[in-house]
Amino acid sequence: MHPWKRCAWLGVLMLASSALATIEDDLRTVLPFGPRVTGSAPNEQARTYFEAQFRALGYTTRREVFTYPRFDDLGSDVGVGAESLAGRALQGSTGGEVTARIVRIPGAGTPEDFKAVNVRGQVAVVQRGQISFVQKANNALAAGAAGLIVVNNEATALQGQLGERVALPALTVPSTADAALRGGQQVTLGVRVRDGEVRGVNVVAFKSGVTRPDILFGGHMDSVALAPGANDNLSGSVAVVDIARRVANTPLAARSYFVLFDGEEDGLRGSRVFVKDNPAVIGSLKAMFNFDMIGVNATPLNVTGEGRLVQLAQQAAQISGSPRQEGGSDQVPFAQAGIPTLFFHRGLDANYHQPGDTLADPRLIRATVDAALKTAEAALLNS
Ligand code: BES
Ligand code: ZN
Repeated sequence: MHPWKRCAWLGVLMLASSALATIEDDLRTVLPFGPRVTGSAPNEQARTYFEAQFRALGYTTRREVFTYPRFDDLGSDVGVGAESLAGRALQGSTGGEVTARIVRIPGAGTPEDFKAVNVRGQVAVVQRGQISFVQKANNALAAGAAGLIVVNNEATALQGQLGERVALPALTVPSTADAALRGGQQVTLGVRVRDGEVRGVNVVAFKSGVTRPDILFGGHMDSVALAPGANDNLSGSVAVVDIARRVANTPLAARSYFVLFDGEEDGLRGSRVFVKDNPAVIGSLKAMFNFDMIGVNATPLNVTGEGRLVQLAQQAAQISGSPRQEGGSDQVPFAQAGIPTLFFHRGLDANYHQPGDTLADPRLIRATVDAALKTAEAALLNS
């Protein structure tokens, strides 16, 4: 067994028999599960752990299940002789394995470019740019190509999308692969994709009998593929659980909901479902606090959102903030439903959505929890 995994299980055993867990315990236990992509085993392991934490604190938990379509690249490449060049399936591409010769298409892959060569039954290679990916793919298909490779001629990594389904295996490769893709060379194009329904599950925690809360503390528990998501967003999930710990035996517990959203990285799926399917809760909320990327200090702790709440956060907790609605996280559907929101974050760190997202500082999470609690108390005072 991997030493980290053994460590995680030990952690679970120890927590079962001892006092309440801490922020440090949460991080140590959940991070080794691996990237918490919606629908994956680590995502479910993390949810089970968090549910146990809420229950140990005397909260009731409820699962909110939803599905949506998603396109996944399971690992695509181009085999040239004994070499394998890593590629990324264009979203919407057909899966398949094609062995054929390379035809280099002059230009960006317009219909005229394809007329200049005979690509029938072969693998077309075009450069990125000038026209859209879907135009390149449809032009290749019309010219009878059996597959398409788009060479990324820019340094930045690419997650290309066709925007529709095209009946052709198609992928992108980095510019470093360009030289290996010579015209006439035989290659095996391997496009391995899954195009299906994903199951997302939000965790909703509250004290038994609470149906009309004043405040909702939320954060997303899912992460993107290949990124352990320590900062994005184990940090925010742990902040939500820790707030639940801190208020468990105070009057605030009876006024609060705690939600760990799933499917955020696939387009705020979980928070949209929650807002749509919980009209009583939505109708009673005076505030929604969202926590996303608060475990690394890319910038000092910052809040954005509704004017009065931002002002309270500045006064009560000395946080810098500005009264504007920012996109990109789970407060958005709540703000769109007219609920005053606060979005707590510490900016984009260097490892955002990367395999290097392995660090979250418990001190920064604790400081965020402190600030959020001061702000919540001020916001709900006399109301
Ligand atoms: N954690 C980010 C949002 C974020 C960015 C928080 C910067 C704090 C600072 C989130 O998971 C994300 O990646 N959002 C996407 C959009 C979403 C709808 C998929 C984004 O911002 O591009
Ligand atoms: Zn995030």
